[in-house]
Amino acid sequence: MIHEINNSVIAHLVTKLRNQNTRANDFRFTISQIAKLLFYEAFQDEVLNDIEILTWRGKKVFKSFDESKYVFIPILRAALPMLDGINELMPDSTSGFIAMKRDEETFKSHLYYDRVPDLKGKTAVVCDPMLATGGSLSDAIDAIKNKNPKRIISLNIIAAPDGIELIKKNHPDIELFVAKIDQKLENAFIIPGIGDAGDRAFNTL
Ligand code: PRP
Repeated sequence: MIHEINNSVIAHLVTKLRNQNTRANDFRFTISQIAKLLFYEAFQDEVLNDIEILTWRGKKVFKSFDESKYVFIPILRAALPMLDGINELMPDSTSGFIAMKRDEETFKSHLYYDRVPDLKGKTAVVCDPMLATGGSLSDAIDAIKNKNPKRIISLNIIAAPDGIELIKKNHPDIELFVAKIDQKLENAFIIPGIGDAGDRAFNTL
């Protein structure tokens, strides 16, 4: 299931990412803000638990997430600011880390770091600002599936139609929330896109 978020606030923030005059600090901050909004969309109908809390009128039962049931997994590097944003909303959730690097010539991704905990009974939320060919996300989801999560959701900022198709083909069971599906992929780069998010976020251009 693919959800493209048609929301003016998100569109405004995505334009900031497209703007090449947006410098690294603001670029990272904007990614973190968009991640919060994607999280908001993805979790709108999420099941809440009843918990008893002490209110000013005594103990009462209210709705709450069991944050310990969620593991947020940014694909390094460019998704790190997405985790910053989401952790502000879900500070008691767990973080796992996967690093993928795309070969600059073949555009094939390879996994070089995996610190995702066991996911039995958990919802895994994988984050990556860019879905170009889809190779990185597809391989990351393979690695995440090896840890037996109950469910996987993906939060992405910019996607090319090709990347969406690859995920639909390889992982039809995943729910994907994307801020904007762009026009096309050209030489494995998203057009119009935002440039190389990792380089822009960490000043390695
Ligand atoms: C970028 C981006 C995605 C991936 C998308 O990462 O952040 O992870 O490419 O491309 P794909 O869909 O064609 O696989 P990159 O490999 O440049 O690593 P970085 O985040 O460390 O810069």
